[in-house]
Amino acid sequence: MKRVEIGAYGVPAEVAACVEVADVGAPGPGEVVFDVLAFPINPADMWFCRGSYRLKPPLPAIPGAECIGRVAAAGAGVTAVTPGDLVINLQRENWAQRRRVKAEDVIPVPAGIDLKQGAMLRINPPTALLMLSDIVDLKPGEWVVQNVANSAVGRLVIRLARTRGLKTVNVVRREALFGELKALGADQCVVDAPDLGERVRTATGGAAIRLGLDAVSGAATGRISDCLADGGTVCTYGSMSGEDPLVPRAAPIYRGVSLTGFMLGRFLAKRSLEQIRALYADLAAQIMNGNLSAPVEKVYPIEDIRAALTRADQGERAGKILVAPNGPI
Ligand SMILES: NC(=O)c1ccc[n+]([C@@H]2O[C@H](COP(=O)([O-])OP(=O)(O)OC[C@H]3O[C@@H](n4cnc5c(N)ncnc54)[C@H](OP(=O)(O)O)[C@@H]3O)[C@@H](O)[C@H]2O)c1
Repeated sequence: MKRVEIGAYGVPAEVAACVEVADVGAPGPGEVVFDVLAFPINPADMWFCRGSYRLKPPLPAIPGAECIGRVAAAGAGVTAVTPGDLVINLQRENWAQRRRVKAEDVIPVPAGIDLKQGAMLRINPPTALLMLSDIVDLKPGEWVVQNVANSAVGRLVIRLARTRGLKTVNVVRREALFGELKALGADQCVVDAPDLGERVRTATGGAAIRLGLDAVSGAATGRISDCLADGGTVCTYGSMSGEDPLVPRAAPIYRGVSLTGFMLGRFLAKRSLEQIRALYADLAAQIMNGNLSAPVEKVYPIEDIRAALTRADQGERAGKILVAPNGPI
């Protein structure tokens, strides 16, 4: 079978290769084997290949934080899934044609779910959901400000905020995105700039915003803090700039603005496996009914992993880059 390995940490498109390896074999008791139908290339996967992610396993390493697969075989004692079921995998190393994992690590998803959206279910939808629920106790009618609003997470935040009766002010790098984000449900859109706080106050009529979401980091974190009311919270959850968050001292000292962070694993760990399964069932249902989706620019075969990584590394994409390791989906 084929899988992607990185032989060194460095530029993703240079260090990753599609290699032939032995098949995963038959499932043992309590195990499941599934064929990987699709996986996305997420920013965290790029950091993983570069060696700057929080996990840096010995080489060669297999990237891939998420995927969707179809169960090929279930071992003795497995009752939750049967061959043919679609699943997502809570474990890593998914950039491969086949995976053999513990049955408790797979979560069944509905037959008939769009495979591209299903491939992106594991990480970004719960990230958007839990950042809106677990950081600040927001009431319907309140505003949330976020940067990278055209990212997959940003678009999901727009949809999920709307479902909860929250309003969003959405910060992007170019005005050309305003139309599509407003069509998605964005209440206001602004282009990032040094005077972001003023722009956001103008756009929202001076709303007292208590939650700001930041995935750019560096000085952008400070600009999000400028948008918040006194006592507000900046939640930083990514670093598209590659920098650490920089917040002017006036924000915490004079205005009581606090900086916190989000990592999906930390927030899922506060929940039981039953609650996690229920959360994914709800998100899968929202994909099925069309409420949640993220655009996909292109799906590549696994043999073209380097071309896929080259494109995933570029800005101004029309959507996610996906890979279908077992043929077109
Ligand atoms: N902490 C967690 O648990 C967690 C979970 C999921 C995702 N995340 C983070 O969430 C962020 C978005 O992920 P995604 O999968 O939704 O991303 P995505 O769909 O691949 O989109 C990437 C976004 O980043 C923007 N961007 C790229 N380089 C930038 C830069 N130098 N400055 C400002 N913006 C830049 C792009 O804007 P353009 O279109 O203008 O290029 C685009 O909006 C990432 O930082 C990711 O690591 C964190």
